[in-house]
Amino acid sequence: MTVDLVLKNAKIFLDERIEKAGIAIESGYIVKIAKDVNLPAASTKIDVKENLVIPGLIDVHVHLRDQKLSYKEDFVSGTSAAANGGVTTVLDMPNNKPVTMDTSSLSERIAEASDKLIVNVGFFSAFPSDVKEIPNIVKAGAKGFKFYMSEQIGGIDPSDDESVTTALVETQKLDIPVCIHAEDKRLLEIIYGEEKKYKCTTIDAFLCMHSEDAEVRAIERILNLAQESKAKIHVCHVSTSKGVQLIEKAKKTELKVTCEVTPHHLLLTCENLKKLGIIGLTKPPLRSKDDVRSLWTGLQKGVVDIIASDHAPHSLDEKKRSNFWQVPSGIAGLETMLPIMLTQVNIRLLSLQKLIEATSKRPKEIFRIKERGEIREGYVADLAVVDLKKEWVIDSSKFYSKAKFSPFDGWKVKGKPIKTFVNGHLVMDDGEVFTDQKQGRIIR
Ligand code: DOR
Ligand code: ZN
Ligand code: ZN
Repeated sequence: MTVDLVLKNAKIFLDERIEKAGIAIESGYIVKIAKDVNLPAASTKIDVKENLVIPGLIDVHVHLRDQKLSYKEDFVSGTSAAANGGVTTVLDMPNNKPVTMDTSSLSERIAEASDKLIVNVGFFSAFPSDVKEIPNIVKAGAKGFKFYMSEQIGGIDPSDDESVTTALVETQKLDIPVCIHAEDKRLLEIIYGEEKKYKCTTIDAFLCMHSEDAEVRAIERILNLAQESKAKIHVCHVSTSKGVQLIEKAKKTELKVTCEVTPHHLLLTCENLKKLGIIGLTKPPLRSKDDVRSLWTGLQKGVVDIIASDHAPHSLDEKKRSNFWQVPSGIAGLETMLPIMLTQVNIRLLSLQKLIEATSKRPKEIFRIKERGEIREGYVADLAVVDLKKEWVIDSSKFYSKAKFSPFDGWKVKGKPIKTFVNGHLVMDDGEVFTDQKQGRIIR
């Protein structure tokens, strides 16, 4: 037998241990993992030079934009950024133009994306106005729903308990997860409405508005609303100590709740934000040192299931708007997530096993991504080769994302994705993404 591709001379992360071996790939699938001498002949052989091969990352929180927001990011630039960051599957958020919120907007988005993808993409939908549409949206390909509690995006007003409950009941019937942006709309409005603070155009005013309480109240509320349906709740970008505590407590009950944290909430604080200014602006905002400590503890204890980038690109022009309240928040994180987290592995703040669990194994389990997220015979060859010892400096001018700015610019990091394979094809080599290699598939 001659296979398409063999990766030889590798250290492979297998089932919580690292083995010196090689991988044989045929028609996009891993067909054999064995010592190099025992691998079949191959049309192409790539020597990975004893670097580490890990499952390609599954980033469950990405805003790919495109359509009428293509000036911020499009399917090609966003999935190229993913490939550059060792990410082989992304789940795309619905706050698009048009909003992804029904079968027609979802189908339109999928059709638009289908021939532009360097990595695999799954799609979230916002809730439709008519909850009876929920099963059809899932049939049309949605991987789950995203529910913003901070403002109405989609068909349901986040202040309307009854509608939210009905929507949750529908998702529970289909056993499909609902991702939550946990900031309480009413609380945000109260502070926003206070004329003084509104006129005060500083980072402090932003922090005051997007308070810890706004997150805590929203998490409390969604956990209460989920009591009736026991819907699958996934809390996005948890950022507060109290938020983690609430989730930890809920996990001990019969509620089905999981959560994610971003690298920026793990590595930066509100003190950094004051220096960074608009480049560090994100919702929920960067928090205190105590909050950061709790996020790390939560991650170590398994309360936090997933690390996700919340890649939220904007144009620099928008970021530089003179009216502070019109500056969009969001950090482009696809190309910094893995290097930054590998750096934490190198300084022993995080184990490699935990990193891989939080970036591929848990994502695949929670969002039911079949045949991906682990290196196993019979699984798809979505792989990242990383040079764990490579020391380099983050430079956002080299990003494939259109958002060429980052709060991590200038950071010295150790660890770099050097090759990315998507469905068995090499799509990134040594920082160069082969943008003509549209190897990504739509994940349903
Ligand atoms: O900072 C953020 N940016 N938070 C969000 O919830 C949305 C995101 C975006 O789409 O820009
Ligand atoms: Zn969000
Ligand atoms: Zn987001």
